[in-house]
Amino acid sequence: MLRAHIITLFPEVCTPYFQCSILGRAVKENIIDIRYYNPIDEVPLLKRVDSRQYGGGPGMVLKAEPYLRCFNKTKQHEGTRKAIFLTPGGVLFTQEKAKEYAQYENLIFFCGHYEGVDERVAEATNAEHVSIGDYILTGGELPAMSIIDATARELPGILGNETSREDARVASRKVYTRPESLEYEGKTYSVPEVLRSGHHKNIDEYRQGLDR
Ligand code: ADE
Repeated sequence: MLRAHIITLFPEVCTPYFQCSILGRAVKENIIDIRYYNPIDEVPLLKRVDSRQYGGGPGMVLKAEPYLRCFNKTKQHEGTRKAIFLTPGGVLFTQEKAKEYAQYENLIFFCGHYEGVDERVAEATNAEHVSIGDYILTGGELPAMSIIDATARELPGILGNETSREDARVASRKVYTRPESLEYEGKTYSVPEVLRSGHHKNIDEYRQGLDR
């Protein structure tokens, strides 16, 4: 089982995603387990989780201690662990990384907001700095969910049909279903002939050659 620990100020952003569709089923079947930890719960009432940054500059930085207290709580779960510090400056998350992360029993995600989380959280927990793309989001929640989603797909038993993992999804990104002929605003859109031919060798070749 893969357990994802999401350390976030906004768990409510993430919860619905893991209640629906394939991931929702995976949670119910105990293939994945999602845990939430909120740094706000780790500071006394009316105390802040953010503060101005050293060196000056706009925006607030999230303080290290509440994040580290959350991290400590994840340690009650046994097994192999990998900590991931979400930042647009990190190494790019790829399918290869998803395969690597799928080997762990616990993945711990540090989700920042505002100007980010104090860098010493990554240092103290030996977390890997990871980015999901060359753009800047308002927080680490979408990156964490994206990584968990892609990683979960690499786990055996998650997808209904084992072959859809590599074969159909990776080899071909253009898929079609009924009707064969689709009318939209006066134009007709047809399913490529080869896919209707029933000729498996030609179909395979066509799919391999598709421009992704
Ligand atoms: N936080 C903000 N933008 C991000 C990105 N692109 N990847 C990971 N974490 C982020």
